[in-house]
Amino acid sequence: MQIIIHESPEKLAQSAAQWVQALLIKKTKPVLGLATGSTPIKLYKVLVEKHQRGELSFADVKTFNLDEYFDIDAKNPQSYRSFMKQHLFDHVDINPSNTFLPTCKKGQDPREQGLAYEKEIKEAGGIDLQILGIGGNGHIGFNEPSSSLRSRTRIKTLTQQTLKDNSRLFTPGEYQPTLAMTMGIATILDAKYVMLMATGKQKATAVKQMITGGVSANCPASVLQMHENAVIFLDKEAASELDDHEYYEWANEQNNKLNESLGFFHNF
Ligand code: F6R
Repeated sequence: MQIIIHESPEKLAQSAAQWVQALLIKKTKPVLGLATGSTPIKLYKVLVEKHQRGELSFADVKTFNLDEYFDIDAKNPQSYRSFMKQHLFDHVDINPSNTFLPTCKKGQDPREQGLAYEKEIKEAGGIDLQILGIGGNGHIGFNEPSSSLRSRTRIKTLTQQTLKDNSRLFTPGEYQPTLAMTMGIATILDAKYVMLMATGKQKATAVKQMITGGVSANCPASVLQMHENAVIFLDKEAASELDDHEYYEWANEQNNKLNESLGFFHNF
């Protein structure tokens, strides 16, 4: 894992956007894995600005979102499709038919829907770069603690903590879904590159467990320790429970020098 600690969420977003930009420029038909939630909003804003300045095109990009609420209408403002339209899709030149979310309606078989999503990812050539946030309980996507580390896209029940954390996004009395379709942990691990972003003190314990704890279904994000190309973008608050700041900084300096000599993102 590469750990990069940034001064602020704004600097983090700028730096994360450079990774996305590198992929979009280097790859002919890039496939991007997307996340919703508060954390990536700043990143999407920077990407939109880059697009508006003519620095970035999404014309050949395919996207696959991590998750979507079960049985939610795409037009519902709470759907993750609406979130993506609001923060990214409606502001860039992406073809809407190239944007995928793992949907499942009442009456449809979630197992079949999960398999179909996996097939779509495979047919697109796999995900080049998966963007992730982390839950306060260490979840990635909606793979809550105790999720199988070999799980694939399926339906999951959200934990009470996740429901409580996300209740801030719903008005009092508004229906809050308790089920979601989510990429599995194995689906996420299949991505060529994985980029997890975490900001704020409320993520510090989960971040510490992810980086320095044992690999465990109790903290699904800890599985990134097993990924070949995982980069963790933190702000100072999210990194506040880590001990090895100096080492991470030094390792990044060496990495940057190496990347300069080899060419940035030579693997994309
Ligand atoms: C979102 C997702 C979740 C969030 C996580 C953090 O698609 O899959 O895992 O990344 O819950 O959410 P925020 O960024 O709102 O703290």
